[in-house]
Amino acid sequence: KKPPASVIFIFGGSGDLNKRKLAPALFNLYLDSWMPEKFSIVGLGRTPYSNDHFRDHLLESVQEFSRRKNEPESLWNEFAQYISYLEMDAEDAASYSKISDYVKELEQQWGEHPNVIFYLAVAPQLVPDIASKLGALNICADTRCTRIVIEKPFGHDLKSAHELNQQLTGLFAEDQIYRIDHYLGKETVQNILALRFANALFEPIWNRNYIDHVQITVAETVGVEGRGGYYEQSGALRDMLQNHILQLLCMIGMEAPLSFEANEIRNKKVDVLNAIRKITRDQVHEYAVRGQYADGWMKGEKVKGYRQEDKVDTNSPVETFAAAKFFIDNWRWQDVPFYVRTGKFLHQKTSIITIQFKEAPHFSFPPEAAETWRSNRLTISIQPEMDIRLRFQAKRPGQSMTLNPVDMIFSYHDAYDGQEPEAYETLLLDVMEGNATQFMRSDQVESAWKVVMPIIEAWEARPPVDFPNYAPDSWGPEDAEALIARDGHNWVTLPAPHKD
Ligand code: BG6
Repeated sequence: KKPPASVIFIFGGSGDLNKRKLAPALFNLYLDSWMPEKFSIVGLGRTPYSNDHFRDHLLESVQEFSRRKNEPESLWNEFAQYISYLEMDAEDAASYSKISDYVKELEQQWGEHPNVIFYLAVAPQLVPDIASKLGALNICADTRCTRIVIEKPFGHDLKSAHELNQQLTGLFAEDQIYRIDHYLGKETVQNILALRFANALFEPIWNRNYIDHVQITVAETVGVEGRGGYYEQSGALRDMLQNHILQLLCMIGMEAPLSFEANEIRNKKVDVLNAIRKITRDQVHEYAVRGQYADGWMKGEKVKGYRQEDKVDTNSPVETFAAAKFFIDNWRWQDVPFYVRTGKFLHQKTSIITIQFKEAPHFSFPPEAAETWRSNRLTISIQPEMDIRLRFQAKRPGQSMTLNPVDMIFSYHDAYDGQEPEAYETLLLDVMEGNATQFMRSDQVESAWKVVMPIIEAWEARPPVDFPNYAPDSWGPEDAEALIARDGHNWVTLPAPHKD
């Protein structure tokens, strides 16, 4: 079923997010017949564009960034009819009447009141002001159909996130606010709930009795890619760990939901965040590691160190790598460590979650078989590989009882046609349908900030003395290895993808 009639206003219409993600996603939804019967996409911005010029500008980005680059241009031309551009200065309250006028006109034309969606694809510091100006518009009083979509970063710390929540919830009802974390829209991430709760097999062993520890790695092979200005205010902890990684941790750690209702799922996730053991600032050095990339070589190319990047301080203390160890203090997870790490310019692009099971309680095989004996491991590869692997022991064929670990692999590409929707497609459709399940509620955001605040405070109080401390194309600073090695483990990576 298609969503109801919708108009989507995109603040920052000519910006990067619209070009790379939103416009390609909306076009794909159109190609897949998921867009409403009646819809309108309106880019807003200060750059003076005619409608045609704006459409051409988006066509170029769709051709560059869409997962389906080779669709006939006639399909784009059909879709482009639904796109328009309104030149307006978001700081000028008077120009917001253009928005209400546009909606009124559509209402008359369509003979119905559409969903009105405001997508704030703008720098975080502009969000409060735009939100308050939108809140003053008459159309926003209708809580059923007006929605506001906010990108991360949601706040800079607990205090600013709380203030932003206070402000937004004073202007809009909570169910009108869609705080995006694009990781939640990824197919492989959504599948974690299917894996855990649509199968009877895993849940009985998904706890401290059988699981030794959990690892989450979100590694990137790119640097800050010209976003030095943003990154200086952020760093790996705020950019990736506070949001994407903690959300993954929630999906692994949460209790079984009673239903798929948005608040039910979000309640279960927020319980995990609230159960994460609080560390004190003095303990941070035992539980968290930071790193910053030096200059060096990345896959045969010379790359700058972080401190040499554009708009970055030459003595910057900002981390481009963060690792941490968390515990979830509850019946299911007491004393099971969750190791997480993320960083830029690492050796391999890979996002994987590893569930490491405990050893079998008794070894009944000949002693020499023990050499290759490994305990069970479930690896959920989120990207770029999209698969789930279960490692178990098998007997190697032959006359001796030799054991060796083998993988049972479920691969998305083998099982399906490899045309899975991108995260933004799923999430934009959810917004049009009014489904907030994959979006962050205010308390989730604040609870996630509470988890990382001691780390932020300790790091800010003690600027790093060893930065830069890792080479591009490595797995980050040595201390990150030590963090996990101290407990007798090592980070798991998958073999690099095979390239011809
Ligand atoms: C964004 C971060 O949220 O996620 C970026 O701001 C990061 O720094 C990106 O590169 C990674 O997303 P993905 O989907 O490519 O893993």
